[in-house]
Amino acid sequence: MATNRTFTMIKPDAVQNGHIGNILAMITNGGFKIVSLKLTQLTVADAQEFYAVHAARPFYGELVEFMSRGPIVAAILEKDNAVEDFRTLIGATNPAEAAEGTIRKAYATSIGENAVHGSDSDENAAIEGAFHFAGREQF
Ligand code: CMP
Repeated sequence: MATNRTFTMIKPDAVQNGHIGNILAMITNGGFKIVSLKLTQLTVADAQEFYAVHAARPFYGELVEFMSRGPIVAAILEKDNAVEDFRTLIGATNPAEAAEGTIRKAYATSIGENAVHGSDSDENAAIEGAFHFAGREQF
């Protein structure tokens, strides 16, 4: 069942480069309501667990190192058709292929350091949101 919620992270590259405010503005201007929000940092073990689905990929070590190297912003977002609409707003994984007007077109620097995460399904949105937020932190 669609929950109309998705999960996002503003990744360490975008936080380090000072883009938190502009990215949150693109998210809210895109019609998403923020229902959970925090500045936090993943440990290596957290990043390994969060990205366990990619453990067999050649880029897994690089991904874990990158995602744990500095602070991130984690958020749960609400909107009709949230998962699909948010993936449209963030653009393609590879910023070279991201459409004009997308967050990754504006702020991603490479396929690995691509500024933002967006859940790929309602099921994963719920799992990923619960990874970062207790029930009382979800409004
Ligand atoms: P995201 O879709 O948020 O979650 C999986 C991440 O793996 C993806 O963003 C990229 O940051 C990273 N990733 C995907 N493909 C590659 C790749 N070919 N090389 C390095 N990192 C990648």
